[in-house]
Amino acid sequence: MGQTKTIYTCQNCGAQSPKWLGKCPSCGEWNTYVEEIVEKKKPASDIESRSLINKAVTLSEIELKNGNDRIKLGIHEFDRVLGGGIVPGSIVLLGGEPGIGKSTLALQTALELHEKKVLYVSGEESLQQIKLRAERLKRKKNDCLFLSETSLEVVIRQAEQIKPDLLIIDSIQTLSTEIMDSSPGSVSQVRECTSQLLKLAKKTGISVILIGHINKEGSLAGPKVLEHMVDTVLQFEGDSNYMYRILRAGKNRFGSTSELGIFEMCSSGLKEILNPSEQLITRGTDVVSGTAIASTLQGIRPFLIEIQALVSSAAYGTPQRSSTGLDLRRLNMLLAVLEKRAGFKLQARDVFLNVAGGLKINDTATDLAVICSILSSNIDIAVDNKTCFTGEVGLTGEIRGVSRIEQRVGEAARLGFKKIFIPKRNKGFDISKLNLEILRVNRVEEVFQLIFK
Ligand code: TYD
Ligand code: MG
Repeated sequence: MGQTKTIYTCQNCGAQSPKWLGKCPSCGEWNTYVEEIVEKKKPASDIESRSLINKAVTLSEIELKNGNDRIKLGIHEFDRVLGGGIVPGSIVLLGGEPGIGKSTLALQTALELHEKKVLYVSGEESLQQIKLRAERLKRKKNDCLFLSETSLEVVIRQAEQIKPDLLIIDSIQTLSTEIMDSSPGSVSQVRECTSQLLKLAKKTGISVILIGHINKEGSLAGPKVLEHMVDTVLQFEGDSNYMYRILRAGKNRFGSTSELGIFEMCSSGLKEILNPSEQLITRGTDVVSGTAIASTLQGIRPFLIEIQALVSSAAYGTPQRSSTGLDLRRLNMLLAVLEKRAGFKLQARDVFLNVAGGLKINDTATDLAVICSILSSNIDIAVDNKTCFTGEVGLTGEIRGVSRIEQRVGEAARLGFKKIFIPKRNKGFDISKLNLEILRVNRVEEVFQLIFK
């Protein structure tokens, strides 16, 4: 006999308490406790016989089933982030802010996967709405099956009958199981639904892609427990005012987390960007002041990106500092270095900084390009458009070494740049084959003398 009990669960972090609390002692959030009914089951009486059947084994005794190869999703950038396709029987959680394109990516995957059975379950859209979206995507028809449903039991039943290779759920927050009374999207519902789907995936070998919403703070809505349960956590991010979207892995049991996929949102769905550098820099014939190209790494992919700065006289007492795509504290630190080393008068100038394409950069090797673009705008002298930069700037104005210098220099050479500034400390790599001039610098003053002579 089951015993019914109520428990209070924090909707932010998943902490539980037998009594209602105003402030969660675990995450510090206010008013997040919600009453939920839990069914406490007694342990089954057949533990003895079950442990006789399910014995521990050695690695050599485990047989790999045929068809354990990854399923290629057909979208190259998506496959790359997953580590070469989706592993059968694994669960992938795809998170992102509303409107970023999660449903579009999932539907596109479903429609592009040929020769595999796909079941696409939507709790958010009706079948008519899915059809309208599919028409917009202009993909060739395949025999993907669609279901508009919010009951977990029905979804699992259908999946067991249809036996798809891939099950897509949009979204986990709309699903609910009937064994619980709490409302869809609550922590215990999300947790229970995920664990049931996990069982289904492990038992049948169906791969599952779960779409999850992100809350205001930028973490996956629902508790962190979801991230522990699934095999792979992917984040789909970007500035919704721009068309570029980045897909990154936050956790990946079957691949690296340093790969990332870049997409562009077009009128007919997401387009893969296989050559980001070529898209992210604009190199016209006329050179303008205030831009500098940085050779940066996102994950393990090198690409070149344009940093734009605008420096003008401060109209009001307090100068403005604004930065899109780069951490504002980093910008302030670089401005302080500029003041000390290049006589840049901070108090009297407004500084606006922008990373082209709406991308967020957290690679400190862009520092050198940032200060060059600011100085270029300040003195209104353009940086040669065949020159690019890579290097981290330290507080004393020294240029510190960067990781994977070969790849950064290689990417610049591939795109036809003629000069690259690199830290003097990065030594010992083969440059004989590259057709570009490498300038090794130790201090920011040296760079200024070389480019603004
Ligand atoms: P959607 O996939 O619905 O976002 P999510 O599921 O993450 O909430 O994407 C919605 C946005 O994408 C919407 O603002 C319109 C835009 N969009 C396009 O620009 N082109 C398209 O072909 C599609 C389908 C959507
Ligand atoms: Mg959606």
